[in-house]
Amino acid sequence: MYLLSVFLCIAALPTLLFAFPNAPFKTTTRWILDSQGENFTYVGANWPGAGEVMIPEGLQYASIQSIVAKMKSLKMNVVRLTFAIEMIDDIKDNGGDVPIQKAFSKALGSNGEKFYQQVVKNNPQFNSSTTRLQVYDAIAAELAKQEMYVHLDNHMSKGAWCCGGNDGNAWFGDKFFNTEKWKRGLQYMADYLMVRLKGKKWPNLVSIGLRNEFRKPDSAGSSLPYNWQTWYTHNIAAADLVNAANPNILIFLSGLDYDTKLTPLPGAEDMGGGKKFQLSNFKYADKLVLELHNYQNSATACGDMESGLWNNGFRATGDKAVNRMPVVLTEFGFSQADSSYSGVYASCLRTLMAKWETGWTVWVIAGSYYMRSGKQDFEEVWGLLNHDWSNWRSTSAINALKQMIDASLK
Ligand SMILES: *[C@@H]1O[C@H](CO)[C@@H](O)[C@H](O)[C@H]1NC(C)=O
Ligand SMILES: *[C@@H]1O[C@H](CO)[C@@H](O)[C@H](O)[C@H]1NC(C)=O
Repeated sequence: MYLLSVFLCIAALPTLLFAFPNAPFKTTTRWILDSQGENFTYVGANWPGAGEVMIPEGLQYASIQSIVAKMKSLKMNVVRLTFAIEMIDDIKDNGGDVPIQKAFSKALGSNGEKFYQQVVKNNPQFNSSTTRLQVYDAIAAELAKQEMYVHLDNHMSKGAWCCGGNDGNAWFGDKFFNTEKWKRGLQYMADYLMVRLKGKKWPNLVSIGLRNEFRKPDSAGSSLPYNWQTWYTHNIAAADLVNAANPNILIFLSGLDYDTKLTPLPGAEDMGGGKKFQLSNFKYADKLVLELHNYQNSATACGDMESGLWNNGFRATGDKAVNRMPVVLTEFGFSQADSSYSGVYASCLRTLMAKWETGWTVWVIAGSYYMRSGKQDFEEVWGLLNHDWSNWRSTSAINALKQMIDASLK
């Protein structure tokens, strides 16, 4: 009996030592490591929550549990969960977080109640006093239960479909992009998540993206100059705040021109005004990661995509980079309603991500949105899921995605 229990103890040891989530993560040169020092490659999907309702999508059609299970069945390991700063503005300035019932009617008018009733039907743990942030809590908890990680992404200031040059969210000082409220929102979330972690919640939150897709506003208005110097000033200030509030999490920095360019970062080139991004100057250098997006859907040559992506930022993973850092492709995607999955663009990314051993999150685990660009129950043909989130949209496209997942996790 004694021997047997010793044996059982030893047998149980590895699972105790290497138990999910093995967080916090850190970086070393171009690798992301878990708390056991194992390489971690982001392989997952975007789950949008930064639309007008400011609640993660799909819950009027499916339970959180079933949406997570679908991603897990493909062996995805992370969700890029997006949120809007407006949610935190409501908490800070407008009397607190908004109950989801109210959030639906506020955004969707007379149809809101119908959406809310369906959400509660599919997710009976919610009720009329559940707030938006509590939905985020529930999603993180379910992801943890199914052993997946959360990467939180600030997608917009004002909740709406992203992104355009004229949506008021393009750049610092743009109509809805209040720089101070943005920093306050990030700090609030970093703080909130630290408190949650101490309460044994959100143990699977490993990283945060400071801002999705900076872009030049169509009309400058009161925007600050659109350049790398402004980028540096405000991104570094925000990163300092986030790291001070929550030193555990990785901080993802995104670039200019819809996050297609991180040009001066890998080589620590002059950004203007004497600003240079020098990784070694950061106390939290082992928490910084770069992210890029790519939507060159009509690409005709993989070689061109490869050199473009490399020069625009992935060269930070190369051994010649001054700032050697991990780079994650946090958005790419294409129609799931045709044969795009076998085209140059999709095949090229499948090859490149595996070749460079870099992580990615596809746009998008969805079938429809509560609302997009003014239209309710908007069909998302780029969604991996069908309109009512019940099944994959295309078996062939999903099989191709599975190949990409397996190649990336190898
Ligand atoms: C991570 O993977 C790379 C490439 O396979 C390897 O060179 C490196 O040693 C790995 N790091 C760890 C800590 O396993
Ligand atoms: C309503 O939902 C919230 C969180 O979603 C939960 O904390 C609370 O206990 C629920 N209230 C009731 C009466 O079930």
